[in-house]
Amino acid sequence: MRPTALITGASRGVGAAIARALAPEYDLFLGGRDGTALDALCAELPSARPWAVELTEITPADVEGIDRLDLLVHSAGIARLGHLADVPAEVWRRTMEVNVIAVAELTRLLLPALRAAHGHVVLINSGAGQRANPNWGAYAASKFALRAYADVLREEENAHGVRVTTIFPGRVDTDMQRDVRAQEEGPYEPGKYLEAESVARAVLAAVTATPDAHVTEITVRPAGGPTR
Ligand SMILES: NC(=O)c1ccc[n+]([C@@H]2O[C@H](COP(=O)([O-])OP(=O)(O)OC[C@H]3O[C@@H](n4cnc5c(N)ncnc54)[C@H](OP(=O)(O)O)[C@@H]3O)[C@@H](O)[C@H]2O)c1
Repeated sequence: MRPTALITGASRGVGAAIARALAPEYDLFLGGRDGTALDALCAELPSARPWAVELTEITPADVEGIDRLDLLVHSAGIARLGHLADVPAEVWRRTMEVNVIAVAELTRLLLPALRAAHGHVVLINSGAGQRANPNWGAYAASKFALRAYADVLREEENAHGVRVTTIFPGRVDTDMQRDVRAQEEGPYEPGKYLEAESVARAVLAAVTATPDAHVTEITVRPAGGPTR
């Protein structure tokens, strides 16, 4: 029987690259809101089906019928920059809703299915979840929270045979990075960023580790750039 994976944020960017990397081995649910993009990727990947859900409004009905899940990858996320003096509560709320609370709720709803499969949860974090820099307050706070969430989940679910891996990528050549560079009012230099496929390779490394190994964290930075 082929294993099953659900990937959030799979309509583009890092999540789409993870879907392509996992497709040969896994049956896939591809998460996102853009149904057209999800359908296009599903046409490319015969083992995939769309799972179009607004993650901040997730309900038990959205995961009905998923009784066994080998892998849950949380890639969906948003990044709004700004000095703390200028970031209003609505930006804080939306950032925490998408980057943290939606992750906690979707994981909670899928834990029975993950436990049944002795599954694996992979969380796409960020360098901003390891080091908080000016202008990145709301995003860094959400990614620090996501790291704490993953650390607790790993400890709590160890006894149920569920593994938890956090991936900390540096800048990646995706729509999010284009938007970030526009917010920073800097040039877009894709040659200086990771390719989305490189983050997908880190996910593959975590999920294909030998059974005796629990890969808890992976940090990936663009070669030739700052390593912290
Ligand atoms: N790009 C970078 O430089 C970078 C660096 C480090 C870490 N990361 C992290 O990597 C992850 C993926 O980033 P990316 O660059 O691939 O971003 P992206 O290109 O902007 O794609 C974001 C994805 O998240 C989905 N999404 C966002 N809000 C959602 C919501 N409310 N409900 C459902 N889906 C939602 C989007 O779906 P729709 O478009 O279908 O709505 C899309 O598939 C994020 O967690 C990000 O923080 C990115």
